[in-house]
Amino acid sequence: MTIYFAPMEGVTDGILRQTHNRIFGGIDVYCLPFHKLTQSLSLLTREKRDVAPEENEGLNVLPQALTRDPEQLSAWLYYISECGYSCADLNLGCPSPTVTRRGRGSGMLQDTGYLRSFLDRLFSNTLPVSLSVKTRIGYESPDEWPKLADLFADYPFAHVTIHTRTTREQYTGPVHPEAFEFALRKRIPHPVYNGDLRTPEDVQAIMARCPGTEAVMIGRGLLADPALARRLRGGKEASEDEMRTWYTVLYEDWKERFDRTIALGRIKKLMEWPSEGDIRRKRLLRRADDIESCINAVIGE
Ligand SMILES: Cc1cc2nc3c(=O)[nH]c(=O)nc-3n(C[C@H](O)[C@H](O)[C@H](O)COP(=O)(O)O)c2cc1C
Repeated sequence: MTIYFAPMEGVTDGILRQTHNRIFGGIDVYCLPFHKLTQSLSLLTREKRDVAPEENEGLNVLPQALTRDPEQLSAWLYYISECGYSCADLNLGCPSPTVTRRGRGSGMLQDTGYLRSFLDRLFSNTLPVSLSVKTRIGYESPDEWPKLADLFADYPFAHVTIHTRTTREQYTGPVHPEAFEFALRKRIPHPVYNGDLRTPEDVQAIMARCPGTEAVMIGRGLLADPALARRLRGGKEASEDEMRTWYTVLYEDWKERFDRTIALGRIKKLMEWPSEGDIRRKRLLRRADDIESCINAVIGE
């Protein structure tokens, strides 16, 4: 099984990827948060750093773009190729209203006519790298999925990651595994399952529900349990020592790159994932003003 670490803007930067790989491992591909493309194609410093080869040494990474302009995407793919990559991803899954209002991210799923013309224009030229896509199963309703699935099956994507929710469903509520089963039957190229995989049992349940599943992408499950991919490969659970090292190294490296306040903010954001639903822990974490008290709030003294 191929395991992708989901892209998470503001969370999964190079420091997190390298630290995760060093301590826990188990990931085949680390996905990079999107580059928001503009007319001038000038990327932010943070975006350039994220794809820099030295930031990703020893890792398999997949850069991602957010755009509704095929020429912009094509130019960016040349840039990505020059950076030394052989595959890149198109974001058709972002549900944020500021993105979808402009018809980008999962906003593009609303207009399949435009999406087809976008992909026709894109694939009419030879691309410098292969292209994958990350999508949702519809904008308003899962009923949109059969038409979208037909569309994705018509293009030579390297793989298609399917977050089994609609845009309206954002990140919560039940997922729709039947949509993934449908994608497998439709012969969409190399479907990757995404959505709410938090434990090895969740992954086993998807494999049983959707026979033929060969790849999964995990986001929040890996933030809550960074050893999840290792466990999926038969390895051990995260020890307390590993968790302490994980948080301490991330904090120190972020402090060195940014400053103490930003590092503490980032570590608290990250630590909120294992504390989901635990109000006492969340309160302790909010009050914590150094890394030791943050770690004590999440792991215990
Ligand atoms: C804070 C945050 C940032 C995200 N950033 C991106 C992104 O840059 N690109 C993308 O394709 N998906 C992004 N996602 C979606 C995740 O990659 C993933 O599809 C989603 O969290 C569902 O998977 P999960 O249930 O395993 O977390 C983001 C999600 C969150 C919560």
